[in-house]
Amino acid sequence: MRIVDIIQKKRDAEVLSSEEISFLLDEYMVGNVPDYQVSAFLMATYFNGMNKNELKVFTEKMMNSGDIIDFPGIKKFLIDKHSTGGVGDKTTIALAPIFASFDIGTAKLSGRGLGHTGGTIDKFESIVGFQFPETKEGLIDLVNKCGTGIMGYSDKIVPLDKKLYSLRDVTATVPSIPLIAASIMSKKLAVHADGIILDVKTGSGAFMKSLDDARLLAKTMRDIGDSMGRKVVTCITDMDQPLGFAVGNTLEVIEAIETIKGRGPKEFSYLVETLAAIGLMLKGDVDNLDKGREMVLEIIKSGKPVEMLKMFIENTGGNPKIVDDYNLLPIAKNKLSVKSNNNGYVSAIEAESIGKSAMILGAGRATKEDIIDHGTGIILHKKIGDKVNKGDELATIYYNDSKNLKDSEEMILSAYAFSTDFIEPRDIILEIESV
Ligand code: URA
Repeated sequence: MRIVDIIQKKRDAEVLSSEEISFLLDEYMVGNVPDYQVSAFLMATYFNGMNKNELKVFTEKMMNSGDIIDFPGIKKFLIDKHSTGGVGDKTTIALAPIFASFDIGTAKLSGRGLGHTGGTIDKFESIVGFQFPETKEGLIDLVNKCGTGIMGYSDKIVPLDKKLYSLRDVTATVPSIPLIAASIMSKKLAVHADGIILDVKTGSGAFMKSLDDARLLAKTMRDIGDSMGRKVVTCITDMDQPLGFAVGNTLEVIEAIETIKGRGPKEFSYLVETLAAIGLMLKGDVDNLDKGREMVLEIIKSGKPVEMLKMFIENTGGNPKIVDDYNLLPIAKNKLSVKSNNNGYVSAIEAESIGKSAMILGAGRATKEDIIDHGTGIILHKKIGDKVNKGDELATIYYNDSKNLKDSEEMILSAYAFSTDFIEPRDIILEIESV
């Protein structure tokens, strides 16, 4: 077999055999194929895609390129809820303790924020002393102790994804749906959860700007999961405006805690309740979402998720008292009120601009090396459909360093669009499908 023939076949939109894909990736992994040949293969794939079998073999090879984490001896039903990333997405922080309250374990790898999107790992690290496990043994131990097992991506898990992603990044081949689907699913499948819930974001703050692309990505990931015998549910959810009101690490932790106390923003609470209800359906506790949501509302009322979150924080070295006393969290020293220059109804909020305006305050990273200032961020006071008069407060900026304050304020102001007529916000959950 020759690599050049495999590239040529993909270039000419012919179907590759399982052996050809395996050969390409095995040889690349051990350093026998140069980056320029794999770059050519990735570009050919960008244009010609992959069929179901190609994608299955490609994803399986990636998944098996490093450690596989399974949980022998753990009796809990384990779920991995993954989001494709957005602005203000603090769902895992609220969802994991609700799952733990139903004896559903969370088993997942989470990311750090980059660019306009935040990462769950950074958010939890707002809690002083909080430390995620660094080894698979640590992750298993955490699931055993408190039901919630989350750790960061490491070089040992799916190393082939890291190699390929670096090449995609510099060859303009990141936005390929089969390559994105394989990249995400290989990391999900390397951790043996019983059910996978994929929250595919769509809109101005998401990777998938259009609903059609989000649908295709969701279906491609379901197909991969199905081909490997995994239970996968995809939810396509709105990211045409930030999720909830808080954007920035500490601020999002507080909003997530408020949500499990039953006081969260309406649309975010509904998303969390629905994802939790999907978990209950996957586990077999209920046979419809309405019943699941009812159970979730009841458990929130009982206060159990708050106790489960405290237990998780305690087991990761943080101070569980932060759940009752937000003053124990790092909050930026200064605030600036951003006032509207317009009258009307909010018709859109460019979520990506809000993410970037938080990032330049220190809440996110422009490059992987940047250091996060956890207490900074933005609280939005107006969302799509709200009536605004000139001079009304649109948002509050939380900042420590005023260097980028003016730019951040201008980005927020230009993120808002107004209309003279009332605009109904899009539903938070657009579609739910399962395999
Ligand atoms: N997230 C991933 O993990 N991989 C991609 O390719 C894109 C987004």
